[in-house]
Formats: sequence, structure tokens, C-alpha cells
Amino acid sequence: MHLLIAGGRELSGTVAVEGAKNAVLPACAASLLTDEPVIVHRVPPLRDVRTIIAVIRELGKEVEYSDGTVTIRHGRPLQPNPSREYVEQMRASFLVLGPLLARLGRAEVPLPGGCTIGPRPVDYHLQGLRALGAAVREEGDGTIVLTAEKLRGTRFRLPYPSVGATEQLLMAAALADGDTTIENASREPEVLDLVELLRGMGARIETSADGFNVEGVPALHGTEHTVIPDRLEAGTYLIAGAITRGRVTVADVRPEHLASLAQVLGEAGARVETSADAVTVEGGGRLRPVAVRTAPYPGFPTDLQPPLVSLLSLAEGESTVQDTVFPTRFGYVDELIRMGARIAVAGGTARITGVKGLHGADLVAPDIRAGAALVLAGLAARGESRIAGLDQLDRGYADLEGKLTRLGAKIERRDVQ
Ligand code: UD1
Repeated sequence: MHLLIAGGRELSGTVAVEGAKNAVLPACAASLLTDEPVIVHRVPPLRDVRTIIAVIRELGKEVEYSDGTVTIRHGRPLQPNPSREYVEQMRASFLVLGPLLARLGRAEVPLPGGCTIGPRPVDYHLQGLRALGAAVREEGDGTIVLTAEKLRGTRFRLPYPSVGATEQLLMAAALADGDTTIENASREPEVLDLVELLRGMGARIETSADGFNVEGVPALHGTEHTVIPDRLEAGTYLIAGAITRGRVTVADVRPEHLASLAQVLGEAGARVETSADAVTVEGGGRLRPVAVRTAPYPGFPTDLQPPLVSLLSLAEGESTVQDTVFPTRFGYVDELIRMGARIAVAGGTARITGVKGLHGADLVAPDIRAGAALVLAGLAARGESRIAGLDQLDRGYADLEGKLTRLGAKIERRDVQ
């Protein structure tokens, strides 16, 4: 399968945004912390969501997914070992480690895979779980085995505010004996959404100056939770409005989660309007160049770095985009260059010399957000683009071509001849 895009059309209209994929994945992992039902609403129909459901089913849960709601109930006794197949497909599967360890005193998890965006170690997860009292050993086949009779509260300072490690430690600490302080923790909206879900399950978590204080409890109960809107999906459609010089509104979002993007788009000369629960971006003429660095929230999100580079490849003059979170996340740039973009990458920074126009090309989506960047470039380019690698795009974007078509794009999914 590939996407066929006839570029050069202005997009205009309103897009409904799904619930945040990166909030749903830890929410499903957190359901392993209790035998009672956990019900999660606003769950998007994505491949990554199907993967996490398959993982928790395999571990013993009974899961129903319909109409955007996942209902997770006790099924069989919990198993400590998700299979390699799933963990290799999606790095977030690794998040079951903390809950399994907390519930069973044992977890056996293969080293994770996921997006091809450079090295993504799990050392902070393991250091934190060790600090909570787990013994960690790695088997010859790359499986990590953790054991702990009982997790014990601790003070742990993360070397970097890793999203996944913060989520892992919050879940494990929720059922530990005593108090845990997690310092230098991630404060991404998806992490705070997990905290809210865990509180709904009876966890005692307070935010502190640079992290969280968790007072361990002996057991957690079921809950019902609606995840936050997907700011990364929303951001992608806003950039689609800007890159096609159209006018796109994302509805039912939390505008504060899009503040760093709105600021950058504004600096580049796009018109940005914000209401209580919607953001609109209007393109207009050629954009001005900007200098942007990705950073942990509330900084500019690394996931929107590839879409932003596509946009800036059409601005006037030289822009720089530095990715401080994943400095090697620029693999897709060669594809943009094949479309006529002028971009040089060195030392985690892309130097983009804006061009007047891009032309269509045959492209491959290397990961979720890089795939989105190529779709955006294809929408703005002259002529036709064919984008393969849809399994990556389908991990993170629900009904991508339907939503873009409703905004006026000419985009179709085709079987490869
Ligand atoms: C999550 C998001 C992903 C986003 C990223 C950064 C999910 C499912 N995925 O990924 O979309 O791009 O946050 O906002 O929520 N690191 C280590 N050791 C570790 C853990 C991380 O060195 O043990 C490094 C990573 O290599 C990277 C940085 O820390 O350079 C940030 O990674 P992290 O925040 O952990 O990202 P993820 O949780 O994997």
C-alpha cells in the first residue's frame, strides 16, 4: 500500500482530533496495576493501540475495544512475560515492566524496538527500578529479567526527564512500600494524564518542584478515564494548514498544549488564533525563517520537529532546527532533499535554506512523525508524491487520508501495483 498525493492544494476547514496515543499506551499498561476494571475513553483506532491491547491481553487481561472506549478487565492470572514480537513492534510495550514487577515481583521483557529514530536506550528505566529495589539481569537473548520481593520507596533523580522512564517509575512506585521521590521528571501532558489516571485508581501522587512524590499504597482499584487530546496529531494538521497556505482549525484540543508550536508558527509569520478549545492556523504568503530547538515540555516537541522542517523548507531564508531530545532524528531529511528541499544536517541541527517550491517524488515513511513530514511536503509540492511505509503512519494517525481529504487535499490509499 502507498499514499498517492496530488500536491499544491490549499487546505481549509476543521479537523476533529483523536485522544492522545501517547496517553493511551501508558493508561493500558497501568491497568495491570489492578484486577478491577479500567475503562479508557477517547481511544484512537491506531496500530500502536492494537499492539498495547494485544500485549495486555497476552499478559492476562480481558480487553474490549469499541467506539473509542477500551474496557480492561481481569481475565487470567497475570503473566510476567510479554512476547518479543510485540515489544519489538513498539517501544511503549516496555511500560508493562513496572506494573508487572509491582504486582508479581517479576517481569521478563525483551529489549524494546519502535520507531527508527536513533538509539533509544532504557537505562534510566532500569536505574530507577533498581533504586526501588529490583534486581536486574539481562539474559543472553536480550531479555531483561527483573525481580523484587517488594518494591521499596526511594529518592531517585532521573539523569534526563525521560517520558517513558517517568511513567515507568510512577507506576512502580504507586504500589511500593513507602514514599518515592522522582526528581528531574518529565512533565509532558501525557505524563500528567497518567498521573490523573493513577490518582483515579487510588494512587497518592503529588507534583513537586521538579518531579513527583509518590506515597505507595498496598492496592489500587479500577477507574474510568478520558485521555487528553492528541497535541501531536493536532500540531500536524495545523502545520498542514500553514504549509499549504490555507486555514486549518483543530477542534476539541487543549490550546495550552500547543503553545510552543503556536509561538513558532507566529514567529514564522503564520496567523494563529486560539479559543478555549480550538486553534486555527492560516498560512498566507511565504513564511519567515526561524531558529527552533526541541526540548522537554513546555518546549517545542521533538515529535513535531520533522513536520516543522518540512514547513521551513518552504520559508524564505535560512532556518535552523536543533533536536536536543533525539539528536539523530533527521533520517527523513534525505527524502525532503529528493523533493527539492535544501537542508544540511550536522551535530543534531538541521540548517534549512528555504526554496520556492518542492516537487513530488516517490518516498518512504521511516517512522510515524517523519512519515507525517513527508505527507505534509507532498501536500505542498507540485505534482504527485507516492509515500510507502504506511504501517508507520498508521501507528500514529487515524484516518489520515479521510481527514486530509475533508480539508480539501487530494490523497488516496492505493495498493502497490
Ligand atoms: C516518548 C514518546 C515519543 C517522544 C518522546 C520524547 C511515547 C509512547 N513516546 O518516548 O513520541 O518522541 O517521549 O518526547 O510516549 N533516554 C535514555 N535512556 C532511557 C530513556 C531515554 O538515554 O532510559 C533518552 C532517549 O534516548 C532520548 C531522551 O532520553 O534521547 C528522551 O527519551 P524519552 O523521553 O524516554 O522518550 P520515550 O519515552 O521513549
